[in-house]
Amino acid sequence: MKVVKALGREILLIRTGTGVYALDDFCIHNGCRLEHGRLDGERLRCPCHSSVFDVKTGEVVDGPATLPQPAYTVSIRNGEIFFSL
Ligand code: FES
Repeated sequence: MKVVKALGREILLIRTGTGVYALDDFCIHNGCRLEHGRLDGERLRCPCHSSVFDVKTGEVVDGPATLPQPAYTVSIRNGEIFFSL
């Protein structure tokens, strides 16, 4: 996982066995940095209160978060990673 800055935001790029995904780095539940979370396959656990998000969609797999984590579409062209905010 790697954080990049774009348009004043911090985006967490996540590489899994199936691709590269992008989520806001700050957890939607209470703002903790997901870059310090634990990645298990395509599920990312927030280090603060253990919400689990699907990195492909941002959907909540396990709370306490009730809203999906903002997720962005990623494409890879000529070895470069692009995403839309
Ligand atoms: S800040 Fe991430 S689960 Fe609470």
